[in-house]
Amino acid sequence: MISRSRFSCPFLLVCVLATILLGSVAALAQAVAPLNDPAIEARVSSLLQRMTLEEKLGQLNQFSAGRPTGPGTGRSEYGQMIAAGQIGSLLNLTGATETNELQRIAMTRSRLKIPLLFGLDVIHGYRTIFPVPLGLASTWNPDLVEKTAAAAAREASAEGVRWTFSPMVDIARDARWGRIVEGAGEDPFLGSLMAAAYVRGYQGTRLDNPSSIAACAKHYVGYGAAEGGRDYNTTEIPERLLRDVYLPPFRAAVNAGAATLMSAFNSVNEVPASANSFTLDHVLRREWGFRGFVVSDWTAVTELIEHGIANDGATAARKGIMAGVDMDMEGGLYLNELAAQVKSGKVPIQAVDEAVRRILRVKFALGLFERPYVEESAQSKVLDPAHVELARTAAEESFVLLKNDARSVQPALLPLGAGVRTIALIGPLADSAGDMVGAWGAKGDPKDAVTLRAAFEDFTAKRQMQLLYAKGTEIIGGSDAGIAPAVDVAGRADVVVLALGENAGEMTAEAASRAFINLPGLQQKLLEAVAATGKPVVLVVFSGRPLVLTSVVDKVGAIVQAWYPGIQAGPALVRVLSGEANFSGRLTVTMPRSVGQEPLYYNHLNTGRPAGRTELTRPPSGGNEKYVSRYIDEQNSGLFPFGHGLSYTRFEYSPITLSSQSLSARGLNSGSQALRVTVEVKNVGGRDGVEVVQLYIRQRGTSVARPVRELEGFQRIPLRAGESMRVEFTMSKKELAFWNIDMKEVVEPARVTVWVGHDSQSGSQAEFLITE
Ligand code: BGC
Repeated sequence: MISRSRFSCPFLLVCVLATILLGSVAALAQAVAPLNDPAIEARVSSLLQRMTLEEKLGQLNQFSAGRPTGPGTGRSEYGQMIAAGQIGSLLNLTGATETNELQRIAMTRSRLKIPLLFGLDVIHGYRTIFPVPLGLASTWNPDLVEKTAAAAAREASAEGVRWTFSPMVDIARDARWGRIVEGAGEDPFLGSLMAAAYVRGYQGTRLDNPSSIAACAKHYVGYGAAEGGRDYNTTEIPERLLRDVYLPPFRAAVNAGAATLMSAFNSVNEVPASANSFTLDHVLRREWGFRGFVVSDWTAVTELIEHGIANDGATAARKGIMAGVDMDMEGGLYLNELAAQVKSGKVPIQAVDEAVRRILRVKFALGLFERPYVEESAQSKVLDPAHVELARTAAEESFVLLKNDARSVQPALLPLGAGVRTIALIGPLADSAGDMVGAWGAKGDPKDAVTLRAAFEDFTAKRQMQLLYAKGTEIIGGSDAGIAPAVDVAGRADVVVLALGENAGEMTAEAASRAFINLPGLQQKLLEAVAATGKPVVLVVFSGRPLVLTSVVDKVGAIVQAWYPGIQAGPALVRVLSGEANFSGRLTVTMPRSVGQEPLYYNHLNTGRPAGRTELTRPPSGGNEKYVSRYIDEQNSGLFPFGHGLSYTRFEYSPITLSSQSLSARGLNSGSQALRVTVEVKNVGGRDGVEVVQLYIRQRGTSVARPVRELEGFQRIPLRAGESMRVEFTMSKKELAFWNIDMKEVVEPARVTVWVGHDSQSGSQAEFLITE
């Protein structure tokens, strides 16, 4: 047996030196953190003193200068407004020449020569498109996500874009919500690590590096809790839930240095998020010390009128700025209404000054005053080969092998074996380049995307294999005329690869909530007809949400959840399907058995009458199971749990070792105590692979009820066949504290169960006590 410790370092001295060096780099980065830089503050103050009220309001105003990404306003001519100092930022405009042209107006014709800040939704790549964020999260690999964000920043910044409206860090527990695709899924721990990774990637170590772009954590806050999963809908989130679940990824983004946040469309407890002084001022500024600025979502300040908390634009503008929204995206209300409000004394000038200060601070920090233009002659960074390669790696790691059943096909259907000479590739997503790019594709071009069909053509040609292709049906609508030819193709093949799923543009992301989340159109019919041939079927699902696959799961031998993989979709998929690469992705969302289970998430509370009672509450006789929290017509559990994902090998876990059986809340709260949790993980299969070792806890006996399981740690470890590794986690205040009955974030006395394992439903188990 090969055994190596995760923490052993063969060259101790190198490790020590590296640690010292990294430590001092981190300290240096903090020391020069531009949003804290006194030199910048002095420059902001001096500029602010010279600004007229109108020029100040101009800085708070952002318009879309390109393709609108919300209800259109029909505006187009900005030159004059920029010259008059009426615009602080533009969104949706890209290209060195295009951005320089408008920047030149700001820098030469406006009185104070304050540079414009160009923003864009660079969500999962700029031109090199990576998997959609839900796919990126499925890698459980924050370092990789950071690299994709850094690549996106290099490409975007070279084209004048120094600000992205990303990451979207909204926790989403309801698969009906179309925007679940834009985030990291249902878990605040994982979501926080991903949030910080994006921020680090976009912003680099210094914002004023020309290839850094400012991040924008959105949508602050609670947007993902939309009732019924319907976009823009109301949210009711009690403070503890807000602090435990919805706020942490924003806090992580702020701690990682995010320069901006975006205020959301939804109301939170009857107060719209874009006029919510509790979240925007009290929590964000006072508690967390955020020094960047907040931009509203698209016309979200104007929408305060529809929300019903303002009867006119003037009131909406006043409520927005007074709550802490600094920049008004696309609504124009700050520009048009605030001057009168300031003059009449309804809005104190200090509120305007503070908002301008925050925006200028970010512009200075980005180095825009020194380098307002981008070099037009510089070689474009888009589709840099290293970025394309990264896109393939990210795609490979994002795929989740949901099922690979050795019972239905012997041996397991995947990887495609040597006996396979003819592959039938069937389905409306097999050759749909646009869908591979996914929603919010920035400057992504379907022409750059390699589909599964193109990649399989290449693969089969090189191996003297045969590829048969049939579309079968459309994604939505269409006729069933293509089903018979697809069945014919299936009948002539050794194996069928079915590429099914959702239409990325219409069925995922904004304004794309679904009440039915199964395979749309005639795809179920296609699948059943193909499966009836008796040929082994590999189902590849392209979707922006976990779909209900209950009625298909038993009809196919293997299922791959592919999300929307980006421009390297085909090559990455062929590599994992053929076994050239192994699967390592894991679900970050629970896959439902039926839509009626939504919202569905693994980290729920236990209730007083849990189904499948615990040892504590099960009645001695076995009891009557009717009066428990369950459906009479559906199970409680998901079809595939959070954390699930198979590979071509298997991993075994040793029992857990704890460094102590008992700690004190006092010691943990003061930081003087921590617990080490150790397991040995072994690759017991025949292939090299990557295991995502997951640590969950449950706390009992606390002042408020805690979830049945909470993810509090994970490590992604590569293990060669037969190899084992000791994996160690630390449990400290950070992992064990929660918002208690007094709304304090503390560790309380508790009985704590720990699981370390492969997903949220399994694992080796141990227990320890937290005493007073
Ligand atoms: C979306 C935001 C996006 C903004 C700018 C809005 O409709 O909700 O996520 O950043 O448009 O495109």
